[in-house]
This record gives sequence, C-alpha cells and structure tokens, in this order.
Amino acid sequence: MALSFSALLPPESMVPVNMEERLQKILARAGIASRRTAEEYIKQGRVRIDGQIVTDMGIRVDPSRHRIDFDGRPIAAAEKKIYLLLNKPKGYVTTLRDPEGRPVVTSLLMGIAGRLFPVGRLDMDTEGALLLTNDGDLAQRILHPSYEVRKTYVAKVVGQPDQQKLDQLSQGIMLEGRRTWPAKLRVLARTKQDSTIEIIIHEGRKRQVRLMFAAIGHRVIDLKRTAYGNLQIGGLPSGKYRLLSREDLDLIFSKKKNSLQ
Ligand code: URA
Repeated sequence: MALSFSALLPPESMVPVNMEERLQKILARAGIASRRTAEEYIKQGRVRIDGQIVTDMGIRVDPSRHRIDFDGRPIAAAEKKIYLLLNKPKGYVTTLRDPEGRPVVTSLLMGIAGRLFPVGRLDMDTEGALLLTNDGDLAQRILHPSYEVRKTYVAKVVGQPDQQKLDQLSQGIMLEGRRTWPAKLRVLARTKQDSTIEIIIHEGRKRQVRLMFAAIGHRVIDLKRTAYGNLQIGGLPSGKYRLLSREDLDLIFSKKKNSLQ
C-alpha cells in the first residue's frame, strides 16, 4: 500500500514548533508602535515578559507561550488594522503622551476605538498629513528610507534661496554627521520677503526640513506636509481625519510620479 506524503512525517507532537519572533516585531504587529519605536519602548523598560521587565533588544519570544505586557497591559494578539489620515493642526504634538500637558494628536480622533500611533513625527508647529495606524509593519515600510516612500512638504522660508543652494539640498547635505538622501525641490511662489517651496524627501529625521533649509541660511516660517507618496491631504479640513481604504494605502507606495513630481 502506498503511503501518503504526510504519513511519512513524524507525528506532530515530535516536531519542534518554533513560533519565536523578535520582541519588537511582536509589539509592532500588535499595534503598539513601529518596530523602531517599539525598540525604544523596550529600552525604556516598558515591556514585560511573564512579569519581568526586558530591555534586551535581541530577545526572541513565542507570544503563544509567554505573556507580554506593554505599560502594564497585555498586548492584543491581532488587532483589527485601522489606517487614517489626519490633517494635523499646528499646536499639537505627535507623541502619545506629553509630560508638559500640550494637546496630543490622538485627542482629535473622536469615535476611533483602538490604540493608534502616528507614522513618523510632525513638529508641534508643523501641520498637514499625518497617518495614524495600529499596523506596525506598515509604519516601518513607510518610515524606512529604503522603501523610498516620498513625503512631500510645502515650506515657506525667509528670503529667496538661489538655484545653487536649492541644488545643494537636492543632492544631499551633511546634517548631524550624515548626508541626507537626494531630495526634489520646486519653487511654487516668491515674494520679496519669502519663498514657498515644495520639497520631497524619503527620510523622516527629526526636524529634517527645517534643518535642511537652515543649513543653506533660509529659516522655515511655515511647514505643511501635503502627501505620503501619491496620497494627498487634498481638501481635508484642519483637525479632521478620514479612514483610508486599500486603494489609499496603495497610493502611498505607488512609484508612479504624478504630474507635479
Ligand atoms: N521636517 C521638519 O522639519 N519638521 C516636520 O515636522 C517634518 C519634517
């Protein structure tokens, strides 16, 4: 009698089932934060495995066999994924809690159940497109420069930077010891006092656009993020959000340049 293929395998109980994954990946999947931010949380001692604080970054865990707590609460195995786009007003911080008591962006999410976190930061005085989600893997793909998701900003800067200076920014400049990735710049308007410039970058370093313009001697007066990839903020009113569809998410990763890019 011919044996089926599965009959040739050892009984299931003998197969070592290894469901271990890196802790930061598990936290990201559970919607706590992007992997990068989850690493910070681990370092800060906010994560416990079976009641023990763990700060070891390389640790691998099987979530089906160990209890994982974040800030004293067990993490959910698999939350329903939520994606939304908020038009962040100035004056709000993108951290989830603010020790100084300033308004936080998540306070604008009336009617949304679930723990969402912002995908990348916007400074308190920057407005515009801010994605919020509980999908840590997606956040990682948007934030990491290797995925080349374009983030478009419109910056109003003091004075009139000349083409040579704008070319320096497009080619990349040294910021805090590291060269910035190539950027795309386009002057939208100029007056005697200021210029309005669109700048498209792949990275999300802290205060990157402000630091880039400061490096060529033109302070940013106003800053707005207008798009992630081809997902535009459009006419979404300040302080309002909309839920994103699968098509919207595809627009974020679309490599097709629109007519302006
Ligand atoms: N670059 C900045 O300088 N600030 C932001 O908020 C975003 C990008």
